[in-house]
Amino acid sequence: SPQVIVCADEASASRKVADMIVAAVNAKPSVVLGLATGGTPVKTYANIVEDFRAGKVDFRNVTSFNLDEYIGLSGTHPQSFRHFMELQLFNHINIDPSKTFVPEGCGDDPAAHAAEFEKRIADAGGIDLQLLGIGHNGHIAFNEPGSSADSRTRVVGLTQSTIEKNARFFDSEDEVPKTAITMGIGTILEAKQIVLLATGTGKAEAIRLSLQASPSDDVPASWLAKHPQVTFVLDEAAASEL
Ligand code: GLP
Repeated sequence: SPQVIVCADEASASRKVADMIVAAVNAKPSVVLGLATGGTPVKTYANIVEDFRAGKVDFRNVTSFNLDEYIGLSGTHPQSFRHFMELQLFNHINIDPSKTFVPEGCGDDPAAHAAEFEKRIADAGGIDLQLLGIGHNGHIAFNEPGSSADSRTRVVGLTQSTIEKNARFFDSEDEVPKTAITMGIGTILEAKQIVLLATGTGKAEAIRLSLQASPSDDVPASWLAKHPQVTFVLDEAAASEL
């Protein structure tokens, strides 16, 4: 079952996750990272950039795969996850841009692209360390409640609550895409190591349901309990219902 690390605050939880990612990158000659977006990982990426600038980590031999991308946003759209990753991380480290894979939001055949994305992960030898956030409704990536444990990378519809939560990054709610490409739960569970970062009281219920309920499609993150090497890194607020 998942290891749970509770840190005093968001800054120390973010630093802890950065340490785990840096350790994974330094552990072997070439590494495949699974990366996440949203508000939660921002401080972790800033810590990693600091470590890179201090010469503590090198991304030359790292390949990365992002969990998800909105359909309809090009990689240069300010709210696309590709743009987020470039701004928060890729532009500040020496990762090879041709080895950073974020699902294409504006391709002409998203379903085909999703299947190709899944194959690329397998061709890369699988993900060594997958960073996850968690949605308020317990979603991981864009696997909303009802997603099956063996789901693969595919096109999904977003729930109204997710659209509302993510509207904060857009000028208005009706600008938020309604569909996305997401790695599936089955895809995520094939990572060798998974680190889920959650901070703030808003995630406390999702964390409780993920760690205490038996795995169910109602709480996608609860399937993580089946994985042999999962670590939940929480601040006290996100752990407050445990
Ligand atoms: C989005 C993303 C998830 C992210 C979640 C939480 O739906 N698809 O990958 O974990 O929201 O985001 P935040 O960290 O902003 O709370």
